[in-house]
Amino acid sequence: MPGRVAGKVAIVVGAGQTPGAAIGNGRATAILLAREGAAVVAADRDLASAEETVALIAEEGGQASAFAVDATDERALAALVADTVARHGGLDILHNNVGASVGAGDAPPLELSEEGFDRIVALNLKSAWLASRQAIPAMRAAGGGSIVNISSMAARHAYPFLGYKATKTALLALTEQLAAQHARDDIRVNAILPGAMNTPMAIEPRVAAGADRDELVARRNSRIPLGGRMGTGWDTGYAALFLHSDEARFISGVALHVDGAEHVSDAVAGQ
Ligand SMILES: NC(=O)c1ccc[n+]([C@@H]2O[C@H](COP(=O)([O-])OP(=O)(O)OC[C@H]3O[C@@H](n4cnc5c(N)ncnc54)[C@H](O)[C@@H]3O)[C@@H](O)[C@H]2O)c1
Repeated sequence: MPGRVAGKVAIVVGAGQTPGAAIGNGRATAILLAREGAAVVAADRDLASAEETVALIAEEGGQASAFAVDATDERALAALVADTVARHGGLDILHNNVGASVGAGDAPPLELSEEGFDRIVALNLKSAWLASRQAIPAMRAAGGGSIVNISSMAARHAYPFLGYKATKTALLALTEQLAAQHARDDIRVNAILPGAMNTPMAIEPRVAAGADRDELVARRNSRIPLGGRMGTGWDTGYAALFLHSDEARFISGVALHVDGAEHVSDAVAGQ
């Protein structure tokens, strides 16, 4: 299949999604990579959800397979990379999508438990390092590659919960460190910072915790200058597609805001 990532082998960690009507960031990214010619390994702790992503890709004639993995378990990630290389002959793309805030029990500093803090650090930060540590030798062997870490605009804005704020900010430092230390391996490492997105991950846990859905959606939409509404999983996916493609071959170590101009508008308003 011709396309912007034709012939590349891609692992998307967190390629399933939180149940809900809208498409998630990870699922949209997996679909777009496959649509543009990559062989996609849809990895997720929830195998059934990864299989749903694979079915959507297969319906379009794309190439994908599902793999069960806990992204906080390095041995499982090692098996994921080894299996991918054995079946596809190499690895070109690693997309680190897993992450959670409210859904993982995040809280303000004095309310967050030590156990909760450790869980969120493992899920949002350590997972990206472990997956990268497993993927980089395989990419090096293939002559290079692309890693994208999904951070959040919570790294730039005030955010009520400690675990998410701290880990999504640290993920930017991790991205820069990997980019600097593996540029000479021809491995590019970038971060995407989605802002307010209309995805199940952002909406459903808050509705489950008692928020009124319509009020929540209206409030999030009203924050966004560009178009006056939240972004979607596709917006994150298209940014990822670009960064993983050879079109971005001279780009590494960046933190790409995908936020409908919310951040720059806040900065101007605050002057
Ligand atoms: N949706 C937004 O508004 C928003 C905004 C900023 C950043 N983000 C970031 O986007 C990313 C996720 O977006 P999404 O829409 O794809 O979310 P999602 O919750 O729909 O999908 C995440 C997937 O990761 C899987 N997962 C969770 N823990 C895992 C683990 N330990 N091992 C393997 N898989 C695991 C889940 O099963 C799920 O399928 C997160 O990093 C999140 O912080 C989202």
